[in-house]
Amino acid sequence: MAIIYNKEKRIFSLHTEHTTYQMMADTHDYLLHLYYGKRLDSEMDYILTYYDRGFSGNPYDLGNDRTYSLDALPQEFPVLGTGDYRTTAGKIREANGCMALDLRYTGYQIQDGKYDLPGLPAAHSEAAQTLCIYLKDERVGVEVTLLYGVLPDCDVITRSVKVTNVGKNEIYLEKLSSACLDLLYGDYDVLTFYGRHAMERNMQRTQVTHGRQVIGSNRGTSGHQYNPYMILAEHGTTETAGACYGVSLVYSGSFEGSVELDQFDQIRLVMGLQEDFFSYQLKPEQTFYAPEAVLSYSAYGMEQLSNQMHHLVREHICRGKYKDQIRPVLVNSWEACYFDFNGEAIVNLAEQAAALGVELLVMDDGWFGTRDDDNSSLGDWIVNEDKLGCSLTELTKRVHDKGVQFGIWIEPEMVSENSDLYRKHPEWAIQVPGKHPVHGRNQLVLDFANPEVVDHIYEQIAAVLRQGDINYVKWDMNRSLCDIYSDSMVWQGNVMYDYILGVYDLLERLTQAFPDMLWEGCSGGGGRFDMGMLYYTPQIWCSDNTDAVDRIRIQYGTSFAYPLSTMGAHVSAVPNHQTGRVTDMKTRGVVAMTGAFGYELDLGKLSEEDKTAVREQIKTYHEAAPVILKGDYYRLSNPFEAEYGAWMSVDEEKKHAVVGAVLLNTHGNHPVFYIRLRGLAPERSYRDKKTGTVYSGAALMELGMPFTIVSGNYPSYQILLDAVE
Ligand code: GLA
Repeated sequence: MAIIYNKEKRIFSLHTEHTTYQMMADTHDYLLHLYYGKRLDSEMDYILTYYDRGFSGNPYDLGNDRTYSLDALPQEFPVLGTGDYRTTAGKIREANGCMALDLRYTGYQIQDGKYDLPGLPAAHSEAAQTLCIYLKDERVGVEVTLLYGVLPDCDVITRSVKVTNVGKNEIYLEKLSSACLDLLYGDYDVLTFYGRHAMERNMQRTQVTHGRQVIGSNRGTSGHQYNPYMILAEHGTTETAGACYGVSLVYSGSFEGSVELDQFDQIRLVMGLQEDFFSYQLKPEQTFYAPEAVLSYSAYGMEQLSNQMHHLVREHICRGKYKDQIRPVLVNSWEACYFDFNGEAIVNLAEQAAALGVELLVMDDGWFGTRDDDNSSLGDWIVNEDKLGCSLTELTKRVHDKGVQFGIWIEPEMVSENSDLYRKHPEWAIQVPGKHPVHGRNQLVLDFANPEVVDHIYEQIAAVLRQGDINYVKWDMNRSLCDIYSDSMVWQGNVMYDYILGVYDLLERLTQAFPDMLWEGCSGGGGRFDMGMLYYTPQIWCSDNTDAVDRIRIQYGTSFAYPLSTMGAHVSAVPNHQTGRVTDMKTRGVVAMTGAFGYELDLGKLSEEDKTAVREQIKTYHEAAPVILKGDYYRLSNPFEAEYGAWMSVDEEKKHAVVGAVLLNTHGNHPVFYIRLRGLAPERSYRDKKTGTVYSGAALMELGMPFTIVSGNYPSYQILLDAVE
């Protein structure tokens, strides 16, 4: 049994294969957190201590007892109004402005299977169990259900919160977090993944100090600036040793994650919705669901934590036909020709692709309305047949005739002021009456909080996708939300959240209507790289930055939470369009093969030598893809600190491994560098596929492998190892 309830003590134990999460509804009906960590089969209420502490309030019903304070006790769902002055997980405002809640435990339910969240992405698993904990504030008339999902196979606990107004008056949710994790003591670091457009998910590790460390987004997307993922690691934790917790939000909109070290040196991590632009009105009998948070714990360092998260994403977040499939090698037209193409150019690119073994051609931005630059036509999803010189049906046929699949780019959430849609329906854009809207890429955001708008866009996009044999869609989103206002709503505090529900609604309808399609998410590259999107699109364009050296760092940061199968990674032209840097074809290939692999350049302009290299790369990728996309992942260096970037993937049976490395700094008479491999079977021998050299698995992991220096900038190494039978 994954969930065990001790009736006498009212203790709930949630067990995965290697972890235990424990809480207790105490005699005062408060829900206290007891433990999260390595699997333990005992009950741990003894850990709670009670003292009279100055300026920490005591619940009224405890009479003269001054030793009980929620300001010091570990909790599952702390709210304002209980005498706990730390970071709250929830804030509710009554119509008169009062914000004091007193949530007490009223009961529980254990169910087989995993709960769903209406309209929201959530982990799915047949083997899971669900625990519902019911809390209520009688005075306000609000019921809160804490939902816990237990996924034993990947050591993940999921959490969400359902709030129902059972009172007579409307209430306003001013804050709602999905998860709170209280730790009574410890010396911890917090790892966050910050960045900017074209340089996402840099890893930052800082010590948890008194006060609050906060990350988040108020942009309406999860954003380039902070990924909705945090790791709390015991000080000294490395890739292979030490305790660490990972918490991720399965949500694509504004979010906030925070870590607080309180006055008693206790730690509280809270993850959930962001408060800016959020004041959700709940009328009597209405219900609200918080997005899901997923939590995982590893006693053996960060690499295990990442592999647990990767397993979760691959098996229990991603869905659809391509969830377990090797993705086709693609070529994308964006960096090949930007807006400057016609049907002939697309067919030529397809012909080049076919000759080199590329399997899918993606026609990126510029095929609709009158769009020849990024100032017009968003919202007008009508094929520009004048520009293409033919219909979409004909174009897809011509591409398929070359032996290549066809993909297309869309940006459904947007509208250009210079578009027929905006001219007809200016009220469908998110903007505040009487205020000029803030522009982003000279475009506005459509009001997806209004179902009528979502319906209209669905019809348009679905009509396009029915016009030919289309196999892939890249779903882009190229600005942050700002002037939050929906013409379709009276109360504006719901818009930010309802917008995301509209996005998910459209994603769900389109992915259901076109089940054979491969969907790739994108938001100016990796501006919406989160588990919410991955529920609908099994891969996301990792970054608009295709520079191989920067990509090593971007993919390194991304790998802490997300498997390689989710990271779109392409070989592009040199000098690189984002950085001007020159790296050779091999290095670009080795780096891009750490993901869903493809090309993003004019294949026709390649030298014969590079064309031969491309053919080789595609051959290698086909051999290595099952290991890369489905295997366990090992970060062999931290490229923010080390002189080289290095990583490897090993398949489940430990029979095949793929190692990649790039030297980031070249010096005269450079020392050889040595890397200890990981994840192999020590008792096995492995043959280097290229050189035929046989190594002992144990030696490769204990002594390591020498990487001899080749002159030139950013030399790279790729080794495919097969176990010797
Ligand atoms: C965004 C994407 C790019 C490309 C352009 C097209 O920037 O991230 O890959 O699709 O839009 O306008």
